[in-house]
Amino acid sequence: MSAVSVPLPSARGPAGEALFDALRRSPEASPGPDVRVVERGALDPEDLHSALYCAYELHYRGFTDVDDAWEWAPALLAFRHHLEQAFLEDLRAHVPGGRDADAALAALTYVSPSPGGLGGHLRAEGTWEQMRETFAHRSLYHLKEADPHAWVIPRLQGNAKAAMVAVEFDEFGGGRGDRMHAQLFADLMAAAGLDDGYLAYLDRVPAEPLAIVNFMSMCGLHRSLRGALVGHFADVETTSSPGSRTMVEALQRMSAPDACVHFYAEHVEADAVHEQIVRHDVVGDLLAREPHLEPDVVFGIEATELLEQRLADRLIGSWRRAESSLLPAPVGV
Ligand SMILES: [Fe+2]
Ligand SMILES: [Fe+2]
Repeated sequence: MSAVSVPLPSARGPAGEALFDALRRSPEASPGPDVRVVERGALDPEDLHSALYCAYELHYRGFTDVDDAWEWAPALLAFRHHLEQAFLEDLRAHVPGGRDADAALAALTYVSPSPGGLGGHLRAEGTWEQMRETFAHRSLYHLKEADPHAWVIPRLQGNAKAAMVAVEFDEFGGGRGDRMHAQLFADLMAAAGLDDGYLAYLDRVPAEPLAIVNFMSMCGLHRSLRGALVGHFADVETTSSPGSRTMVEALQRMSAPDACVHFYAEHVEADAVHEQIVRHDVVGDLLAREPHLEPDVVFGIEATELLEQRLADRLIGSWRRAESSLLPAPVGV
């Protein structure tokens, strides 16, 4: 059984250095990370997303070398706010900003697997090594699969809440720990000869996969972004079934181990059902109660598509240059 939590990773720039230096001391003994570091703007995405991922991790499992009391320390939250604002500004500057949730969801149906997307590349010409790298990138989410979305449950009412919980119940294994999707992904990692430990690849994955999880965490933890969280979730459930089928075909072409195929095969069936529940019962009911949230739902969909495309571009770009898409291991690790 792998450890519950791990130590802080290496800093990737001034934001990470300021944050991690503070977190290694007790919250009572530290004035907190210096917000001037993040107020100046123009943070490198690697620094921004690594620091933000670690700030959010305090709400999940924390770190072995960080006092749990940091989770709600005002100085930590003030610092994190600047990182979140930089992330939101980046997203808002790069999405179209539509207002029709049905149209945004309908558009996804016809682009899965999207041309230029990761699944399409892996199915057509990907290597087993590229697939293993993809697993490592995805492990930052799938080993905490469905956790970020659970934050939204108290922010929903009626059918939207009941349907959201029904989908989450499946994600969490329907009452069985060995069937939790996070556990199925740990089984996949082990079968692929990768480290299945929680956050084992935190130092090795670049900004793009971290940004995808940061978006979920940010939307889950802010009630003001509940519409975006639901939009993001609807996007994932809509694209997951065809996307998972593409992955099954890619894995079968590579003669991958059964546990690797099983994770995606499970999502082909489950997410075809989840798509319908999320679209009609979660999105539909939320917008019937709170119609002013529709632009936020669309923002969640558009931002998810943007972040997934950035990940695909980064990975496929590395592979076209015959390079690994993983960052080199930090010195001394
Ligand atoms: Fe799942
Ligand atoms: Fe699902």
